[in-house]
Amino acid sequence: MLQIQDLSVAYGRRPIIHRLNAGPLAPGRVVSLLGPNGSGKSTLLKAIAGLLKCGGQVVLDGQDLTRQSFERRAQQVVYLPQSLPASVHLRVFESVLVAARASDLSPQAQAVSPERILDVLSRLGIEQLSMRYLDELSGGQKQLVGLAQALIRTPRLLLLDEPLSALDLNYQCHVMDLLRHETQAQGLTTMIVLHDLNMALQHSDDTLLIRAGELVGHGSPETVITTQSLAQVYQVNARVETCSRGLRHVLIDGLCTPAV
Ligand SMILES: Nc1ncnc2c1ncn2[C@@H]1O[C@H](COP(=O)(O)OP(=O)(O)O)[C@@H](O)[C@H]1O
Ligand SMILES: [Mg+2]
Repeated sequence: MLQIQDLSVAYGRRPIIHRLNAGPLAPGRVVSLLGPNGSGKSTLLKAIAGLLKCGGQVVLDGQDLTRQSFERRAQQVVYLPQSLPASVHLRVFESVLVAARASDLSPQAQAVSPERILDVLSRLGIEQLSMRYLDELSGGQKQLVGLAQALIRTPRLLLLDEPLSALDLNYQCHVMDLLRHETQAQGLTTMIVLHDLNMALQHSDDTLLIRAGELVGHGSPETVITTQSLAQVYQVNARVETCSRGLRHVLIDGLCTPAV
């Protein structure tokens, strides 16, 4: 269970997140984090991951993460940044091995088996890349390796910042299906920044909508993603319609006309 209480983050003297409260977010659920550019999505994820100083509390399974050492926190929380993994001259397999060992010094993590690494790669559909060098991969392939590096660490809380941005349509759906499956099977909480509202509607269980560092929507994707909220937050004219298969889809008709 994840609960965010009175979370505030500032860069220098400039406040970005203002006493944000969210949750409780139950384990086994994929939570989409939506909001316009610059609204504070990446800042929020970094603060939850412990990479930025913040006020307030981030409570995971009854423990306040903000009071834990960085090492203890890194065993439970994995954050995949918006930027693609660094182009180091390591083979994909080695880079996943390094990721598994780097955050956790327990004998179990240090002894990660080759089978487990190949299993994660094959679940992501990239086992054929395992002996390729990271610095020779395409952007989308690197993004999938970043996800493998995150999943091998078996976190309790998985924070993914725009993990679909470089992926083709097939891999976008594949990754969202996989994340939902892993999230349910392992009972973790996955928070994922998305720009594609239809992905959020169809592949997430809860949605947080933020604008200028404030939470303006919190609940099921269907209740949060509405004509009104999209006009308020993105200033677009949007319709949310149910298709012939009973799925909800967002259609954008254009920008809202400014009131005269
Ligand atoms: N390292 C930083 N130093 C100062 N301001 C920053 C820094 N990173 C982000 N910001 C500012 O914080 C606000 C929120 O940014 P960010 O969290 O990256 O937004 P989002 O991920 O929603 O696009 C923006 O106004 C951005 O310019
Ligand atoms: Mg961002």
